[in-house]
Amino acid sequence: MPSALIFGGSGQLAKFITERLVKKDYIVYSVIRREEHVLGLRGLGATPIIQSLEDSTVAELAQVIKSSVPDVIIFAAGGGWRAFKDPSFNSIVDHDGAIKVFDAMVNAGCTKRLITISTIDTRNRSKPRPSWYNDEDQKVSDDLWAMLPRYMEAKFEADKDLVEENTRRALDYTIVRPTWYNEGGWTGRIKAGKAGTSPKVNREDVADVFVACIENHATIGLVFEVTGGDIPVEEAVRHVAEEKVDSFDEIYR
Ligand SMILES: NC(=O)c1ccc[n+]([C@@H]2O[C@H](COP(=O)([O-])OP(=O)(O)OC[C@H]3O[C@@H](n4cnc5c(N)ncnc54)[C@H](OP(=O)(O)O)[C@@H]3O)[C@@H](O)[C@H]2O)c1
Repeated sequence: MPSALIFGGSGQLAKFITERLVKKDYIVYSVIRREEHVLGLRGLGATPIIQSLEDSTVAELAQVIKSSVPDVIIFAAGGGWRAFKDPSFNSIVDHDGAIKVFDAMVNAGCTKRLITISTIDTRNRSKPRPSWYNDEDQKVSDDLWAMLPRYMEAKFEADKDLVEENTRRALDYTIVRPTWYNEGGWTGRIKAGKAGTSPKVNREDVADVFVACIENHATIGLVFEVTGGDIPVEEAVRHVAEEKVDSFDEIYR
């Protein structure tokens, strides 16, 4: 059976990914920090592993990976509600936690495939705005960086580390950069690639994007945006993969 290991497995997005992978007969290992999520995750068909990213060393995380030997690793954790109260959790989870996972994968030496969650508009803001942005995209960007500077910086630096250090790590990564999540239901449709910053996108549709990336190896090495849209998810991801739509150079360097 294929297998996946999800860091931040108790999160809302992670649980949607879990449901989808379990339906496809994946074994899903779900790395979480709090005992109270164990029963719920078992109910979804996952195998919970309690191992907090922030309290673990790279060697300990590597041991988790070695003990499950997953085909794919998903990083879906985030400082979340704790970071709203104390932004240092953006550095601790979104940045340091992510980089520990990248290094742990190298240390474990058994799994190369990695799909990480980033966010919209993580970019080098000293450069002109991306060529595909319009004034509305710029407004969302200005608001985001004004409201959540530590969060944006943490995600930006983690993504940059993943791409720029990959000559050394040699991971088969894909970075998914969704815009704000909305509270609407699943639509099965998105816009992907150089998509801008709006409209908002549903978490379940983003979970479909993760599954489509797992199933499409031509997404390896790509960094792309996801917003609400009207293209079926698989088709949108296939287009990004076939056309090698990658935002990295223009937005990060
Ligand atoms: N909200 C948006 O509009 C938006 C837009 C684009 C991207 N994103 C990103 O999408 C990702 C998923 O979002 P979401 O809404 O699913 O977030 P979420 O529900 O807050 O999930 C984040 C998960 O990370 C877990 N986590 C935190 N610290 C951890 C640690 N030390 N070890 C292991 N797990 C830990 C949390 O567990 P606890 O509950 O136990 O802390 C939580 O289950 C996040 O990275 C977020 O930044 C969000």
